[in-house]
Amino acid sequence: TAGKIREFEKRKEALMLMGGDEMIRKQHELGKLTARERLDLLFDNGSFQEVQLFTKHRSTLFGLDKKEIPADGVITGFGEVNGRVVFAAAQDFTCSGGSLGEMQAKKIWKVMDMAIAAGKPFVSLNDSGGARIQEGVPALEGYGGIFYRNTLASGYIPQITATMGPTAGGAVYSPALTDWIFMVKKSSYMCITGPDVIKAVIGEEVTTEALGGAVVHSTKSGVCHFATNDDQDCINKIRTLLSYLPDSCHSPLPLLPTSDTPDRECLELDEIIPDKPSKGYDMKKVILEIADNAEMMEPHAGWARNIIVAFIRIMGRPVGVIANNPSFGAGVLDVNASDKAARFIRFCDAFNIPLLTLADVPGYLPGTRQEWAGIITHGAKMLHAYSEATVPKLTVVIRKDYGGAYIGMCSKQLGADYVMAWPSAEIAVMGADGACNIVYRKEIQTAPDPAAKRKELASAYETQFNNPYFAAGLGIVDEIILPRETRKRVAFLLETFKEKKETRVTKKHNNIPL
Ligand code: COA
Repeated sequence: TAGKIREFEKRKEALMLMGGDEMIRKQHELGKLTARERLDLLFDNGSFQEVQLFTKHRSTLFGLDKKEIPADGVITGFGEVNGRVVFAAAQDFTCSGGSLGEMQAKKIWKVMDMAIAAGKPFVSLNDSGGARIQEGVPALEGYGGIFYRNTLASGYIPQITATMGPTAGGAVYSPALTDWIFMVKKSSYMCITGPDVIKAVIGEEVTTEALGGAVVHSTKSGVCHFATNDDQDCINKIRTLLSYLPDSCHSPLPLLPTSDTPDRECLELDEIIPDKPSKGYDMKKVILEIADNAEMMEPHAGWARNIIVAFIRIMGRPVGVIANNPSFGAGVLDVNASDKAARFIRFCDAFNIPLLTLADVPGYLPGTRQEWAGIITHGAKMLHAYSEATVPKLTVVIRKDYGGAYIGMCSKQLGADYVMAWPSAEIAVMGADGACNIVYRKEIQTAPDPAAKRKELASAYETQFNNPYFAAGLGIVDEIILPRETRKRVAFLLETFKEKKETRVTKKHNNIPL
């Protein structure tokens, strides 16, 4: 037996080195860590348990019969992150470029199946040249099986992908099917077709970084939720995100002890709204004031910045915040903002994370660009996502809340459990000037001084609607609160609604406008 144990240890040791010293050196030179180093950072010390280390490819095509690919280029397993079980797969670029063949895919399927069966999150650390070219169609089948499992797992367990190297062609779609995509600046990119194909087909010249680097995908396309500085930063942020998420849709939310108090007054909020209605202010400050210990985790921080989505905790319990950002495009709703918010709302609802909406929205962005980009369909996603959500839904109207966008920011009729408004709230179909131009067009046109007439009429309109009292009078706003009381009110309401259960008519699934 001793001999057999020694042989096992020897074989295992060889596999631990993966692509070998030279390839590891190359990987480090590129500023990248190896898959094992990444997993060491992800999992709590010593808790990682590897699955199917000894798996080998069985292709004999194009010289593969002579090629050893340790662990078939991927390390799979499970362990503890912040003391909770998480499953993971990490491709290792040092072994044939982490390329995905039949057996690599089967290893990934195995841990995905285990994650689903166990009801625990799945994290994929991708660093790969894509489908293993020599193997042909079994490699493509491999991706198909991953996409299928990503979809089965969607809404059941949280799924996170970090692209920490190249990701091209079919390989991009597993990340896109997961809930959260992290990228590492400079060392990762994602694209459907690379620069060479682009040049050949449409004659456009572009670098991989400009085409699909972390900055591009976290600012222009919105594909990436978190652009990180290096591998370590990326994995730290994955650990932080996991701390907000439950194991599965059937698991309780993770509660973190906090030194913050539920009735802490947020005095600064009394002063935050500028006197001039067109002036912006820092909505992130509002969120941080409300949050436990001024902490938040913000996906999509650089994309569709007119809306902010963020995870915070209130009395240790995770909350998803959706807030218009009056400092960017006046907080208007457009195609991207609607997509960003709708996806976030659906994620939170799927995993039982309550929603807090902070509204300060002048309306939907007008113009042909938006209409032709389908603002009607995209805006509808938000309405659908909010209406479909059965988690506790709290809304605070901070300032402007106009027209269709008022409805879109989780108004009462979209199922908000409790709607509050600050005294600065203005709830109306549109701004006073615009309203008077339509309602009193004739009176204004025929007046001796049209501008003075418009001003006079607008002032009457403002008195009627540009305040929270009309809406509160109709019970559309449940309570007008002092800004400084916001945390206290929200904390108490979240505690009150924590057992909320809402049953809807049964059906196969909704048909959200995609
Ligand atoms: N299939 C098989 N092997 C692959 C591969 C793939 N898709 N991608 C990379 N490799 C192998 C390389 O052959 C090389 O093997 P070796 O160590 O035995 O020589 C190793 O991985 C490292 O690749 P290399 O090209 O030297 O690394 P690089 O950093 O210079 O370039 C890529 C990285 C990803 C840009 C480049 O490897 C590439 O273009 N790969 C193919 C991408 C693709 O078209 N994939 C198929 C579509 S999904």
